[in-house]
Amino acid sequence: MDKPMKSRGKFFVILPLIFICCIIVWTPKTYRSIPTPRGPPKACPYHISEQTITPLNNTKHFQVSAYMDQRVKDVMCRIPTNCNATHVTLQTQPGRMTQSDQIWLPIRNKKTNGKEEEKFQFNFTVCISNLFGDYNNVLQFAQTLEMYRLLGVDRVVIYNTSCGPDLDRLLQSYSQEGFVEMVPWPINKHMNPSRGWLFSEHGGDLHYFGQLTTLNECIYRSMTQSRYVLLNDIDEIIMPYQHNNLMSLMNVLQQQTPNAAVFLIENHIFPKIHFEPSGKFHLPQWNGVPGINILEHIYREEPNRNIYHPYKMIVQPRLVEQTSVHESLKNFGQRYKVPPDVCRMIHVRVALQGGLTREQLHVDKRLWDFHEKLIPSVDKALKRVGLLGKS
Ligand SMILES: *[C@@H]1O[C@H](CO)[C@@H](O)[C@H](O)[C@H]1NC(C)=O
Ligand SMILES: *[C@@H]1O[C@H](CO)[C@@H](O)[C@H](O)[C@H]1NC(C)=O
Ligand SMILES: *[C@@H]1O[C@H](CO)[C@@H](O)[C@H](O)[C@H]1NC(C)=O
Ligand SMILES: *[C@@H]1O[C@H](CO)[C@@H](O)[C@H](O)[C@H]1NC(C)=O
Repeated sequence: MDKPMKSRGKFFVILPLIFICCIIVWTPKTYRSIPTPRGPPKACPYHISEQTITPLNNTKHFQVSAYMDQRVKDVMCRIPTNCNATHVTLQTQPGRMTQSDQIWLPIRNKKTNGKEEEKFQFNFTVCISNLFGDYNNVLQFAQTLEMYRLLGVDRVVIYNTSCGPDLDRLLQSYSQEGFVEMVPWPINKHMNPSRGWLFSEHGGDLHYFGQLTTLNECIYRSMTQSRYVLLNDIDEIIMPYQHNNLMSLMNVLQQQTPNAAVFLIENHIFPKIHFEPSGKFHLPQWNGVPGINILEHIYREEPNRNIYHPYKMIVQPRLVEQTSVHESLKNFGQRYKVPPDVCRMIHVRVALQGGLTREQLHVDKRLWDFHEKLIPSVDKALKRVGLLGKS
């Protein structure tokens, strides 16, 4: 990754396929002409990186993580025979290297042999990139996580640069319980990340705290563990409208489009300025909890399909080689746009079409269908960290 690179697509040396104890001579720019890796050194690695972001010495590049990729034909680095890869390192110049200077990355995914195909540890993993600033939207976070659990999500991976104090407590608790996996993402220690998507406005060295890197990392992290991966933000819920959970939805979609690898879900915005008038779900126990109560926002904007309209995705991680935020860049299989009446995204946030009055919006109470289970689960999660009924 080049530091001066402005808010553009490719960041980080994403290291999807590199192997161990094999020393690789590689500079990222010569990507396609990678020399054969060297065999393992006599002794095993001295320095193994425990970090999620490891600077590559004397360059502007960072190493994020290493995964094996057994699908790609134009292999970037072949494992020498008789080498059981466990760690990998990069060298920027050919020639002898002093092993003690080198920092090694562990290869995070284990070898699979196809037979394991059918027994995934998880059916659905949600990847949330990236938590930063002093974001403390506890109520919406708790509601979204519990909503995902009801829909059949088994695990949520969150890349954390920083967050607010109450959200920190909530996430520590979810992480102890095992539903959430927190990945430390101290990118601000290495670079000056941009806080917005538009370089001219937000500046910085790096787009959105390295969102593209974390999304790709998450796909590789989940590849052997999870049948499907959902790529969206924490204020977004990918919601089936004709099924009670994501598995029933995917069974049907996958039957209709057996070759689809990437399912594109349309974004629907529920402006947070419009409240449901009866206050039915304005619950007293949530009064002291910071953040948005998504059950109070039932008015939905009709997307303007004449202009660019962003999607988020459900993907089969084994069929995706590289992704961007709103679409995959390289994948096997087909992409399928899921009709919005089958599944769409509930996204409570500031209005996109700010001029619209309540009467010009659609009433959409889909979240209410889950209230009987959702409310007690949210209460329980908030209670665990002492945030319930504080006021
Ligand atoms: C690689 O690992 C397998 C299984 O752990 C072992 O049977 C084999 O002997 C190892 N090969 C080498 C070269 O270390
Ligand atoms: C990084 O480079 C410096 C100077 O070239 C060297 O002294 C140091 O040992 C290197 N560190 C690692 C971890 O490679
Ligand atoms: C995944 O879904 C299948 C089919 O619905 C189910 O049998 C299996 O138990 C689920 N696996 C997990 C880890 O929940
Ligand atoms: C998120 O990262 C910040 C900064 O490193 C840390 O203080 C906080 O405890 C982390 N939160 C969680 C839940 O991991």
